[in-house]
Amino acid sequence: PVRPLILGIESSCDETAAALVCGDRTILSERIATQEAEHAPFGGVVPEIAARAHTERLAPLVEAVLEEAGIGLRDVDAIAATAGPGLIGGVMVGLVTGKALAFASGKPFIAINHLEGHALSPRLDDETLTFPYLLLLVSGGHTQLLAVDGVGSYRRLATTIDDAAGEAFDKTAKILGLGYPGGPAVERLAARGDETAVALPRPLVGTAEPHFSFAGLKSAVLRAVQADPAPAPENVAASFQAAACDCLVDRSRIALDAMPEATAFVVAGGVAANRRVRHSLAALAGEFGLRLVAPPLALCTDNAAMIAWAGVEHFRLGHSDPLDTPARARWPL
Ligand code: KG4
Ligand code: ZN
Repeated sequence: PVRPLILGIESSCDETAAALVCGDRTILSERIATQEAEHAPFGGVVPEIAARAHTERLAPLVEAVLEEAGIGLRDVDAIAATAGPGLIGGVMVGLVTGKALAFASGKPFIAINHLEGHALSPRLDDETLTFPYLLLLVSGGHTQLLAVDGVGSYRRLATTIDDAAGEAFDKTAKILGLGYPGGPAVERLAARGDETAVALPRPLVGTAEPHFSFAGLKSAVLRAVQADPAPAPENVAASFQAAACDCLVDRSRIALDAMPEATAFVVAGGVAANRRVRHSLAALAGEFGLRLVAPPLALCTDNAAMIAWAGVEHFRLGHSDPLDTPARARWPL
């Protein structure tokens, strides 16, 4: 393998994951265990259940990725684990596991900010992507526009003042009785709907500050569904999805205007899996003569390859972290 070879660990939400990634972007092996079934009855992630599931699954996943690659801990150059932000119980499981493996093997430990994992993940897929670029990070916990100037050099240009975009998808799914996780279910239903059928607001669209807001959109979806007669669910889903896309595009346009040095417009995070979102953002990138870089779906949602890759980027710069590195529920980039 091309050095460095990094073991990555992710456990900040409801995916337990381990991966081995090399300096030449090869993912040697990768395992991910989702907890969808455990959380589905509750309509969302239950932190306590998540932490217990990570505790049971993580070590066997690490064993499995090493075995599949046919290597031992002695062969890796460093161990990278998510140290936050996220659900603290889960973060602690992955962080402590990563530190223990580093301690036992004598290898360096690298603490990764989960958001940085998402921010750098497009470079794992695309070797031509160079700094600086504008990143739209849209996940269940975050909706941010970041100027990515280099590894460890991020400027937050915008964030949400209430809900995250993924949260709006999840809440809309709940209102429509689609269950959890909501984003993919809303997208599937929306494919059969008319996105002009239900009039919904576009919060903050047209304002100069590039902030996001989705709470009002979610409330409008609830009011629409409670109307008599209620619109067809597929039309609600499609109209919601179109409104959310309009918000993402309008806010991103302001950030692109403010960042003429950007070499690309990049989207990452779970909501980037949405095809309507990708199409809208690609059209926007085209307006600025930029390409839209969107990692493959498996790299968009939570995974350990992106954590290992962030580890590769930091290892190359000579970074490592002490074994008393704290777990952080909140950790702005
Ligand atoms: O990045 P991610 O896996 O986890 C974090 O929040 O960090 O993102 C999960 C979010 C959820 O809110 C989920 O509903 C949303 O991404 N999502 C989608 C789609 N797939 C996942 N939203 C819209 N359309 C999708 N196809
Ligand atoms: Zn995430």
